[in-house]
Amino acid sequence: MAKRSKAPAKAPAKRGPAAPKPLKGSAGELLTLFDFLRYAVSRFNAAKLVFAHGTTDPVAEAAFLISETLHLHPDQFESFATARVTAAEGRQILDLIERRITTRKPAAYLVNKVYMRGVPFYVDERTIVPRSFIGELLDSHFGGDEDGTSLIGDPAEVESVLDLCTGSGCLAILAAQNFPNATVDAVDISSDALAVAARNVADHGLADRLTLHRGDLFKPLGDNSYDLIITNPPYVDAEGMASLPRECRAEPKLAFDGGADGLDIVRRILDEAGRHLNPRGGLLCEIGRGRDDLEEAYPNLPLLWLDTEDSEGEVFWIAAADL
Ligand SMILES: C[S@@+](CC[C@H](N)C(=O)[O-])C[C@H]1O[C@@H](n2cnc3c(N)ncnc32)[C@H](O)[C@@H]1O
Repeated sequence: MAKRSKAPAKAPAKRGPAAPKPLKGSAGELLTLFDFLRYAVSRFNAAKLVFAHGTTDPVAEAAFLISETLHLHPDQFESFATARVTAAEGRQILDLIERRITTRKPAAYLVNKVYMRGVPFYVDERTIVPRSFIGELLDSHFGGDEDGTSLIGDPAEVESVLDLCTGSGCLAILAAQNFPNATVDAVDISSDALAVAARNVADHGLADRLTLHRGDLFKPLGDNSYDLIITNPPYVDAEGMASLPRECRAEPKLAFDGGADGLDIVRRILDEAGRHLNPRGGLLCEIGRGRDDLEEAYPNLPLLWLDTEDSEGEVFWIAAADL
């Protein structure tokens, strides 16, 4: 019987560089960062997503997600807008776009990152996604008095800051950066939120002058007093709690719930803050939409309402001498 000879191995055909695989879900039509941006915005609009977690519109949200995937700061998006992404990068971007739509989770939770005033913070579902107007106000009203808008004298003379209801620690960290000679105390009642804050404090190398405390408002602080108290407490009223968008329902309820009129915690802060402020200090407090109710409850307090790019009358300042 004739021996069956093994068929000779077929010599591999000579090939050029492998053609990029078509992207699943895009038919390979999306090539540049701009293409992916346009696609994401169309999908986000069609899905009627809500944008309230570090970005306020679908373009910024999409640019953030695309930049994160490509390890770029969102400010770098435009520089690379016409550059092509690789097939693997494209698949990751499409996956994120899909997850943003199907889960309705804030983009920040999907990539564990949010930028506030251009500063990156780690974030996950143990704490609310930072978006307080106080970040902007620290820059616009607490940066020294060159233009006459500063509510304190020289930021270098601020020696002590308290951030009540610190969540991820974002405002405490921005304050520590704004006031380079201050020690900062930051309080939250949630140990989950404080675990995230601890990570951010370490990431920003501030453990030597920023201390986290667990407890109910001023309780863990004894008789300590401060040059400046900043706070973005829970302030959503019962009606608002009942109609939170799906994106916000991924966040801890404790971060929002301010009781029937939204002002339960704000009232407690106003009532107690005077005892924890140094004579030339002051309180900066965000309260959302409760301005009318608060002014009715405290008709004699000279609250100074501060506006930001995206808010009107949602944050007040009051000097220690007026409390
Ligand atoms: C609106 S979030 C603000 C978080 C952070 N400051 C920010 O701007 O992203 C409110 C925070 O207050 C905390 N909180 C709620 N009740 C509190 C209380 N009685 N004492 C201290 N913290 C409280 C929540 O856990 C939540 O982290």
